Amino acid sequence: MKILVTGGAGYIGSHTAVELINAGHEVVIVDNFSNSKPEAVRRVEKITNAEIRLYEADLRDRTALEQIFADNLFDCCIHFAGMKAVGESVSKPWEYYDNNIGGTMVLLDVMRKNGCKNIIFSSSATVYGSPAEIPITENCPKGKCTNPYGRTKSMLEEILTDLHTADVKNGDKNPWNIVLLRYFNPVGAHKSGLIGEDPKGIPNNLMPFITQVAAGKLGFLTIFGNDYDTHDGTGVRDYIHVVDLAKGHLKALSAIEKKCGVVIYNLGTGRGYSVLDIVRAFEEANGLKIPYKIGPRRPGDIAVCYSSPEKAGKELGWAAENGIVEMCRDSWNWQKNNPNGY
Ligand code: NAD
Ligand code: UD1
Repeated sequence: MKILVTGGAGYIGSHTAVELINAGHEVVIVDNFSNSKPEAVRRVEKITNAEIRLYEADLRDRTALEQIFADNLFDCCIHFAGMKAVGESVSKPWEYYDNNIGGTMVLLDVMRKNGCKNIIFSSSATVYGSPAEIPITENCPKGKCTNPYGRTKSMLEEILTDLHTADVKNGDKNPWNIVLLRYFNPVGAHKSGLIGEDPKGIPNNLMPFITQVAAGKLGFLTIFGNDYDTHDGTGVRDYIHVVDLAKGHLKALSAIEKKCGVVIYNLGTGRGYSVLDIVRAFEEANGLKIPYKIGPRRPGDIAVCYSSPEKAGKELGWAAENGIVEMCRDSWNWQKNNPNGY
């Protein structure tokens, strides 16, 4: 298939581009480099030995997007582009709604005008809010999101679903096919150590914070609370290797090919690890010490969040293959080889 990957220079997009190309798909990337660098795409080319058509453009730039669709006939779009920092979204809600919702609206309009109505969308476990059940299945009702970032994901899921519903109601012969992928906590990096997560400034997320402590860039990790109702008091999450996550998108393409309508899949491992579990696993996997202190809870955090990935297993034949050791090893390998990112 010929696939438009929006945000393909980013963390998950670059890893997905590798898997798509390795599986024989043709990838075209559009990115405005607001949170990434063109070097990431060059590295993807190096890993795959392929040439990638890359457009530097903002999704809100309709003229640029129309040109991309005039130049290419796409079978599907995998839509990663968006802003993703939870804390920042609270202080800059307009920017989050404008970029995530506004950018997607222009993309969807240009797609439908060009007859490409197949899309795989990067959603998040954050749409479950404080989940009503653990492990979380796709039937778990969506919860109240505590921040604008999460609300953009939840709203976009609904906007996409409405498009399909209207097509069915209107008897459209070419209705939208939409796969909503709810990611749990992506970590790790490609085995080559050539691509990985390259956060700007001090990382908000646990694994990049740990790797920067390991590299000596940060003095110690602050664990946000040890009084949760979990086996050791620290927060439990479903960490998933980014290469497994990337492969989930390949499998999602098979749903698109089967004209799936709207489908939702959790992409997680189904296993929960606490912050202390991760610290210990990282230390053991890499033979390093991670100094830490216990701090107060981070506002908005929940105690436990992990998936049931059963639906993706049954319907897509997908399951995460990498365990916590590989996640910790590959995260460190990337950080070690690229101390200053790209
Ligand atoms: P990322 O920031 O590394 O990648 C996003 C890419 O989109 C960046 O390269 C950025 O420059 C680009 N971009 C942003 N706005 C754009 C615009 N208007 N036009 C063109 N390009 C634009 O983030 P990621 O971790 O790779 O996440 C990819 C997607 O997955 C995002 O939608 C994110 O919200 C979602 N997601 C991520 C996580 C996670 O933990 N990383 C978890 C759940 C969901
Ligand atoms: C965060 C986002 C969530 C997003 C997800 C994936 C928040 C509140 N939630 O989830 O919306 O979908 O990332 O990108 O930001 N921790 C520490 N010390 C740190 C960093 C984290 O103890 O310095 C703990 C957290 O309290 C949590 C766990 O580590 O228990 C994982 O945190 P993080 O990596 O930020 O992911 P989430 O909070 O699960």
